[in-house]
Parts: sequence; C-alpha cells; structure tokens
Amino acid sequence: MWNAKLYDKFSRERIQPSIDLANRIDKVCERILDVGCGSGMSTLALRNRFPEAEIVGVDLSASMLENAKKILPDVKWIQRDCSKSLEDLGQFDLVFSNAFLQWLSDQENFIKNIRKCIKENGILALQIPNFETMMIADIIKNVAKEFDTNGDIFSTMHDNCYNHSLTTYYNMMSKYYSNVEVWQTNYIHQMDSSDAVVEFVKSTALIPYLERLSESHEKDFLAQLKRRTAEYYKPCENGKVLFPFERIFVHGLNSTNGNLV
Ligand SMILES: C[S@@+](CC[C@H](N)C(=O)[O-])C[C@H]1O[C@@H](n2cnc3c(N)ncnc32)[C@H](O)[C@@H]1O
Repeated sequence: MWNAKLYDKFSRERIQPSIDLANRIDKVCERILDVGCGSGMSTLALRNRFPEAEIVGVDLSASMLENAKKILPDVKWIQRDCSKSLEDLGQFDLVFSNAFLQWLSDQENFIKNIRKCIKENGILALQIPNFETMMIADIIKNVAKEFDTNGDIFSTMHDNCYNHSLTTYYNMMSKYYSNVEVWQTNYIHQMDSSDAVVEFVKSTALIPYLERLSESHEKDFLAQLKRRTAEYYKPCENGKVLFPFERIFVHGLNSTNGNLV
C-alpha cells in the first residue's frame, strides 16, 4: 500500500533524479505525460522545467494522487493502471516516468506500446532505481529468509520489483527508439541514521514484504532489519550515514526513421 506521507518524507532525495532527467530534455514540450506520477514529485520537477506545458499525471494509487492534487492543482490527474494501454489519452511531446517502470513485469511491452502516446520525434524518458545492486536489497532478502523460517510468509511472494541492467534497458530502448541515451548516477544520500535507510525503503521496496505481515510481525521484521542495516551502514565522523543509491536513466526519440521494430 503506497503511503504518500512516508514516501514524501525523503522528498529532497526522491525529487533529484526527476530534476536531472527533466533537465536533459532539450526540446520544447507542450504536452507531457507523467506515468506512475505517484504523489506528484516527478510532476513537480516537470512543471518547474516546463512551466507552460499541459501536464497529465497517471497513477494507480488513490492515496498518492490525493497528495499530488494538493501540490499541483493545474495538472490533470488520472487514476488507472499504466501497464494497460494509455492510448486514449492522446499523444504527447514527452512521456516521462520516474521510479515507476520497475513495478511492471513486462517492461519491454510498456516501452514498445507507449510509443502510441508519443508524437513523431517526441521523447520517452525513464529513470529506474538499480535496486538489486545495492547492499540494502541483499539485507532485506537475507532478513526475510531469516524471519520466515517455515517459508509460509514470503515463499508465495513473487518478485514485485523487476530490475534489469543498464545494458538491458539500452537494448530495449534501442529496439523501438532512436537517438537513445543512457547513463547511471550513484546518489549518495546523507541519512541521519541507519534506521533512516530502512525508513527510506519502507515506502517503496519494502511494501510487498510489509503487506504480508501482521502488525506485530511487521514490528519484529523491521526491528531485525534495522539491526542488520546498522551492521553495514555505519555512521561517519559527523554522525551521518551515507546511503548510496544507484539509478539508471534512459531516453530516446520516437522516430519512424531507421530500422526500428
Ligand atoms: C516510487 S513511486 C514514483 C512516483 C513518482 N514518479 C516520483 O518520482 O516520485 C512509484 C509509483 O508507481 C505507481 N504504480 C505502480 N504500479 C503501477 C501501475 N501498474 N499503474 C500505475 N501506477 C503504478 C505507484 O502507485 C507509485 O505511486
């Protein structure tokens, strides 16, 4: 269950990738679609970069959208499943998606089909957390194994978060788009404590785990996770804990020129 209040607690850290991705778009964009817009943070970065544009934000979560509506009343907000066709929304100069794609099982299908929503020479711009490469991802998996000794809590849990390598994203994009650019940034977040690292992932990567736990089990699971996280994420001399967070960026042009599929 997405929780806008908890998600927005780290708004400074979470908005920066959207700012960086939006700043790489050097075209005039009159119509923009923010897919998986959540609580509106990525949309806010878009609004600041393109003050005159008509922006549409789409997300599945009513509670995230509730928050988005409060911060940007001039955006058109739509609640729906973005793994399904969005073709009826019309065509856009820019389809933007920050930290959403990893929640889809068939990402290539999304990358291919969303072209129907992009004008000729319009842009698809994506940011995907490279979560699987991070130590916190290993810690979560190990604690889940330790916690679920009988295998009856998490064993039925399929991966809800689907991470691919930078090369895979490059290949997927190059199949359907031209002028593809890809890059990776390792953001080093300065957290107040190692517990804050757990707080950070509680509103995203931990959701599928926490959804399977009762209230008391959730408390024990989080306590165990905090202990393990503290063993790895140690404080610096000033007390801050450095939390490296790697993110993959990719964008390309929807062009019918060339040998694209
Ligand atoms: C990590 S948040 C990113 C939100 C926003 N783009 C940002 O940068 O802050 C991921 C969002 O994806 C949404 N989401 C996940 N699966 C979805 C789906 N199938 N259709 C629409 N939204 C989805 C969630 O509701 C959540 O708001």
